[in-house]
Amino acid sequence: MPLKNMNMLAEPKLRALQDLVKTSSKEELIWMNGFLAGLLSNGSAVSAPQAVVQEQPVAAPPAPAAPAVQKITIVYGTETGNSKKLATEFATKAKKQGINAKVVSLDQYRLNDLPKEEYLFTVISTQGEGEPPATAKKFYDHIHNNGTRLDKLKYGVLALGDTSYPLFCKAGEDVDNQLHKLGAQRMVSLQKCDTDYQADADAWFAQVLQKLQSGGVPASNGTTTATVTAPAATKKSGGKKVYTGTVLTNINLNDRGSSKATHHIEIAAEGVEYLPGDSIGVVAENPEGVIRAIVSLTGVDASKIVAATEPRTVYDLLKKKLNITWLPERVVRNYAKLVQQDIPDTKISLLDLLRIYPVKDAAQFEEVLGILEPITPRLYSISSSPAAHSGEVHITVAKDTFMVNDERRCGLCSDYLLQMPENTSFEFYVHRNNQFRLPDHDKDIIMIGPGTGIAAFRSFLWERDAVGATGRNWLFFGEQHFQTDFLYQTEIQNWVQTGVLTHVSLAFSRDQPYKVYVLHRMLEQAMELYRWIMDGAYIYVCGAREPMSVDVDYTLLQIIERFGGKKPTEAIEFLDKLKEEGRYLKDVY
Ligand SMILES: Cc1cc2nc3c(=O)[nH]c(=O)nc-3n(C[C@H](O)[C@H](O)[C@H](O)COP(=O)(O)OP(=O)(O)OC[C@H]3O[C@@H](n4cnc5c(N)ncnc54)[C@H](O)[C@@H]3O)c2cc1C
Ligand SMILES: Cc1cc2nc3c(=O)[nH]c(=O)nc-3n(C[C@H](O)[C@H](O)[C@H](O)COP(=O)(O)O)c2cc1C
Repeated sequence: MPLKNMNMLAEPKLRALQDLVKTSSKEELIWMNGFLAGLLSNGSAVSAPQAVVQEQPVAAPPAPAAPAVQKITIVYGTETGNSKKLATEFATKAKKQGINAKVVSLDQYRLNDLPKEEYLFTVISTQGEGEPPATAKKFYDHIHNNGTRLDKLKYGVLALGDTSYPLFCKAGEDVDNQLHKLGAQRMVSLQKCDTDYQADADAWFAQVLQKLQSGGVPASNGTTTATVTAPAATKKSGGKKVYTGTVLTNINLNDRGSSKATHHIEIAAEGVEYLPGDSIGVVAENPEGVIRAIVSLTGVDASKIVAATEPRTVYDLLKKKLNITWLPERVVRNYAKLVQQDIPDTKISLLDLLRIYPVKDAAQFEEVLGILEPITPRLYSISSSPAAHSGEVHITVAKDTFMVNDERRCGLCSDYLLQMPENTSFEFYVHRNNQFRLPDHDKDIIMIGPGTGIAAFRSFLWERDAVGATGRNWLFFGEQHFQTDFLYQTEIQNWVQTGVLTHVSLAFSRDQPYKVYVLHRMLEQAMELYRWIMDGAYIYVCGAREPMSVDVDYTLLQIIERFGGKKPTEAIEFLDKLKEEGRYLKDVY
């Protein structure tokens, strides 16, 4: 096609393009071709100015050359959909360049295919404390525990993470290192991405595609450095839009006599943007009493300004920045070195550590401040709906309590939120979960959400009611006692009355001599449940990862076997297909 047909390019630009084309080698032209295709498929190319055009005959640009590498596999491990989104974008870009790109979730990837693979690109996030997402665990364990050589393989890893966490992009880093150890050749350096991952990911895609176009040559020295994003300590948390919220309501949903405390917290936040299925991330402040005890134990001057990433008082660091409630073993090891004492590898609070293995003096404690890690954000599923509660987010927070040496203690962030008086302001961000979205309005949904799992489904139900969705809604909810623990009872009953909830199945585990959980209710309603699934219903699970969500898997398999007349392997395939179709979705923790 002659370039004159590109009648959107004004004269000076056209000339510049011609000059560039004339002076470029074939490889450079191929690279530019890929780069522009990448920009366009990403929708990030700037819109063309309205120029008056002068047509000029010029030399034809090179026809897209067949890529040197024709087939690649892109695998992803994701918890909230970011890695899947990027893997899919990468595949689209590769396909536009004539590369046959297969995209597979790591939980669907056949591990036996790995030694046969020639080009494998992994997009993987980090979860928990530096762990791979649950869907990537099998792959992660396999490459770490199975010594099969991968000498044929050329690979690249795009690691997603968040610099607010001390083990930034650890899972991706591990996969990158481990594939290298197994003999695979690193084609491009590991790219670590913060929460504002798009630009880094796009640059990485362009780099990989360029290499694939020119023959898939591995990185010359095989090391992992190059374009790695700065580490946690030096990079400010990128791309997160931080909102200031004001607590409007903070009430306990459990009645007197309950062994639990689950608070419904309404937060006003101007301009807050989210979708049902999202969570908010909160960085808690440490409890005042613990800080006072630490100051008195160490003799440190709380008002002294010390140099951290920015100068702050000791008090400020202890209150707002540093994790002091539950130190990871690596921090305890560093503490042992610093205070030169023998301390077993263990997790412990800073106060307990200081009591058992005291610092020499206040100056040594100031050094301890330097080895502590930041407080990590905790997530809470949003229980409100943008359509029904404009300018607000609601959350449903269960008090986390546990015993340490016969003393009852509370989790940091749940306690911080539960104690927050009305009118208090605090900061939060929205953590998007593109994996956990409502379907079209006319689709049926089955929601399985015992305990705080109800939070996301309160959001779903308010939203579906507000937008007039026509699909049917079935809720499975469970707690300990009907009398004291039926969270959002009035709202749920109203939804039943108004027909928003077609079915509600309740399980109060401790109201009878034997335990009854949502699984039992699912089995009791198995035939109807199976009918809903066959009619196209979407299944959602929210709440405790273990044992609840694992038991739900197992229960669904039983139902599919029994009512679908399927063998166990066929039932697994059936459930896998539902997952692939995005009809079996989990948000579990
Ligand atoms: C996607 C997602 C959505 C979520 N949604 C919700 C929700 O809607 N509602 C909700 O309530 N929660 C939700 N959570 C869980 C929530 O993020 C927190 O994990 C939970 O509130 C506990 O945090 P915490 O800071 O209170 O406890 P932490 O301080 O983090 O303590 C957690 C555990 O660590 C141990 N521990 C901590 N300190 C010590 C110590 N000094 N000594 C011994 N052991 C210790 C205890 O076992 C304790 O139970 C969600 C999590 C995720 C990932
Ligand atoms: C509970 C939780 C724990 C996390 N732990 C880490 C971590 O240890 N290191 C890290 O770099 N990122 C961590 N992250 C951030 C995620 O990796 C980041 O949000 C990423 O974009 C998620 O991608 P995904 O949607 O593909 O799972 C954590 C996120 C959550 C919700």
